[in-house]
Amino acid sequence: MRTPILAANWKMHKTVGEAVAFAEDFLPRVADVEGVDVVLAPPAQSLDRLSRALAGSQVKLAAQNVHPEEKGAFTGEIAPGMLADLGCAYTIVGHSERRHIFGEDDAFVARKAAALLAHEIRPIVCVGEQLEEREADRTFEVVESQLRGSLAEIPAGRAAEVVVAYEPVWAIGTGKTATPEIAQEVHGFIREQLGKQFGDAASGMRIQYGGSVKPDNVYDLMAQPDVDGALVGGASLEPESFEQIIRFDRGNAE
Ligand code: PGA
Repeated sequence: MRTPILAANWKMHKTVGEAVAFAEDFLPRVADVEGVDVVLAPPAQSLDRLSRALAGSQVKLAAQNVHPEEKGAFTGEIAPGMLADLGCAYTIVGHSERRHIFGEDDAFVARKAAALLAHEIRPIVCVGEQLEEREADRTFEVVESQLRGSLAEIPAGRAAEVVVAYEPVWAIGTGKTATPEIAQEVHGFIREQLGKQFGDAASGMRIQYGGSVKPDNVYDLMAQPDVDGALVGGASLEPESFEQIIRFDRGNAE
């Protein structure tokens, strides 16, 4: 049984004050929610205050990025041990914005994922094809290669701690969600690939869908057998809309 995981990726939004105000509004709203993992990934400067705001709640903290080294001359970067110190339970790696705007490749993502596990932080490893790749029928090839490269350093026996996020780049921030059928087709393929690498552990690994997830489409996406959660950008910025997403099992919002 895979526990659904709904994660808010705030990207470069919210000051520290705005992040804390979100938590104050959001936590009482979701205090009764059970049986799902709820995660907030604020910008790095809010991690400390948010960590304190979330203490005692079931909502977990995540960073949006990490550097694989333990310490050193890496101006502007944050080490995995520093994120562990702040109470991060998860961290996003390989987001398409990191891959395409900042030029991060699979090998770098793989090092980040392994470094996080070494500090008991669960990596959320993102993969997904661009529009031209989908139109050229290369989706499976691209996703297969990103998975193989980005998960290359996951130690045997730790696979169940890894979350994979399938985020078709053409659906991110565009309002164009993949249909539940498209999402399931790729998620099923991802689980098959995970099976080749991790054997039976693949059936326990969670695969999130990301890309314009909203209160009115999350139910149909989550109803797919291999969709185990969502990584949500825009619709996670308001407490009410992220609350509706977390309560996906109540059915589509009006
Ligand atoms: P979106 O972003 O929900 O705004 O499309 C998702 C993501 O990039 O993680």
